Formats: sequence, C-alpha cells, structure tokens
Amino acid sequence: MMPNYEKISPTAILVAAIRAKYTDLPYTRDIYAAVKRTVKTDSYGRLTSHIGRYGRFFQRSTSRIVFLEARYLSVNRVLRDVGGDWAIVEVASGLSPRGLEWSKDCRLYIETDLPDMLRIKRRVLDEVLAQSGGFPDGHHKLYPLNAMDYAEWDGLGREFFGGEKMNIAVVHEGLASYLSQSEKDVLRDNIHKFLQTFASQGMWITPDFYTYGKKQKTWVLNIINSRIETRTGRKYHHFAADEQVAAYLQQGGFDASCYSSSMIFGQLSCLKRLYLDKDRIFKIVSTFKTWLARPA
Ligand SMILES: C[S@@+](CC[C@H](N)C(=O)[O-])C[C@H]1O[C@@H](n2cnc3c(N)ncnc32)[C@H](O)[C@@H]1O
Repeated sequence: MMPNYEKISPTAILVAAIRAKYTDLPYTRDIYAAVKRTVKTDSYGRLTSHIGRYGRFFQRSTSRIVFLEARYLSVNRVLRDVGGDWAIVEVASGLSPRGLEWSKDCRLYIETDLPDMLRIKRRVLDEVLAQSGGFPDGHHKLYPLNAMDYAEWDGLGREFFGGEKMNIAVVHEGLASYLSQSEKDVLRDNIHKFLQTFASQGMWITPDFYTYGKKQKTWVLNIINSRIETRTGRKYHHFAADEQVAAYLQQGGFDASCYSSSMIFGQLSCLKRLYLDKDRIFKIVSTFKTWLARPA
C-alpha cells in the first residue's frame, strides 16, 4: 500500500512563512497572506518566529533560512543558464512562487503536488491573482501528482505531452529529504521513465540532494527538525557525500553535474534580515549543491 504522504504537506506552510518573513522573493508575502486566510497555519507558522528569535543568539541555526532562499535561487539560475524552449514540471511545488514567476518565460509551467495541497495552492493563486489584478496564464497549469506513483506521471505525460514532444525540465525542492533511500530510488526511476517517454530533451534539476552532516546541526535546528519529524511521521534522510549522489544518479541512468550555491550568494535577500557573519555564511552556502541530471 502507498504510504500517506499528505502529512508532509504542512511543511510547505513553514517554507512559505519563512520566505515571506525573511526574503524578497517575488509574490511571497502575497502568497503567505492568502495562505493565512485559507488554512490554519498553526505551529508551523510559529516555528518561523522561533527560528528568527533564537537565530539572533545562535547564528548557525539561521543557515536553514539561507538554505531555503539559496535553493530557490539556485534552481532558477540553473534553469536560466540552460536556456531554450522548455516546459517545466515542478514536483511537490507546495506554496512556492516559482510557477507565478516563470510561467511567462517558459513554454509551459505545470505545478504538481498531492491533491489536497494542490487545492490549497489553487485557492491561494486565485486570491493572489485577483488582488494583483493579474489573470490566470494559459501557460501555467496545476496537476495533482503523487511523485511516487508512475501511473500518475503517465497521466500527466499523456495530458500535456501526448501530442507533441517538448523539452521538459522536472524540478523539485524540499521533497527528497522526507523520502527514504528506497523511495528516492522510486522517485528517480519515475522521473527517468517520464523523461524518456515524453520529452524530446529532458532534464531533472534539484537542490534536494544536499549532504547534511552533524556539524551543520545546532541544538536549535535539532529541536525544530525533531518537531517536524514527529509532525510528518518521517525521518529526515540525506546523502552522506556528493559522490553518493553522483552514483545514485548514474545508477538510475542519468548523466549528472552539480553547481554550488555560491553562484547566487550575491542575490540572497535574507542576509540583510539575519545576524550572520558573511564570510562564514559564504562557506556554508558554497556547500549547498543543485544537481542537473539528464537521461544518459
Ligand atoms: C517542504 S514542502 C516544499 C514545498 C515547495 N517545493 C517549496 O519549496 O515551498 C514539501 C512538499 O512535498 C509535497 N509532497 C510530499 N510527498 C509528496 C509526494 N509523494 N508526491 C508529491 N508531492 C509530495 C508536500 O505536499 C509539500 O508540498
């Protein structure tokens, strides 16, 4: 039987709250205001304030806030650098603003997530667009997808790419650390099969395969992480080294390379709201990696 992944969904609220409070990323404040009107943000919203409050005294703890902005900007940078006429399929898009930001600049932008999360996203997007006087963009679609179920990938492929093959970029951020190694294998194999079946050229971009060692964990982060693990019913799982990530991708039939988030360091807007030593945080940011993998 398929596990219940819905318990992971509220973590999207935490990420949306952090983006709205600490970053200048586009649409984030409008999105979070609409989220608060749409769902109970409860303790996930409150965790955001705790991170900020403790972060004043325990600087390293706020590196997770930097990580959240860095991963968003890094995916954007890799997408931009690749260039060309791509359709983007964002997996587990949660309350991310990327669909709104990118749909005008790509051939097609399909946001996917579990059905309940996607219903919240639809309401939130409708509100944000109504308030900004914007209008739904024909290139911007929402589609329910459990990324662990290939039948659903196949459904998505037939609906949007059944007629004409396009270049397809699959992206996700903030999903894989909630998956065990065997679930990560399923995710990889589903993406590979999907790209081979439906894309003329395919790529998979994700910042999710970061290595997260003991040294990066402060006691504040440990408390926050263990609360999230209890709420989601999931144990965080990370690769131990970049070589392991490379082997995992290669075993799944991908050619892969990775990019350090140092490339977007100058764009990080959260740094002006956090109490951080710039040199130290640059070193930490340089260890965050975004992977770009193409079917071999
Ligand atoms: C930490 S949130 C990240 C959301 C978004 N990518 C962001 O950065 O704001 C994790 C997301 O993974 C989604 N998710 C969890 N399991 C999933 C699955 N099996 N298939 C698709 N999405 C899933 C949740 O619904 C949630 O939106």
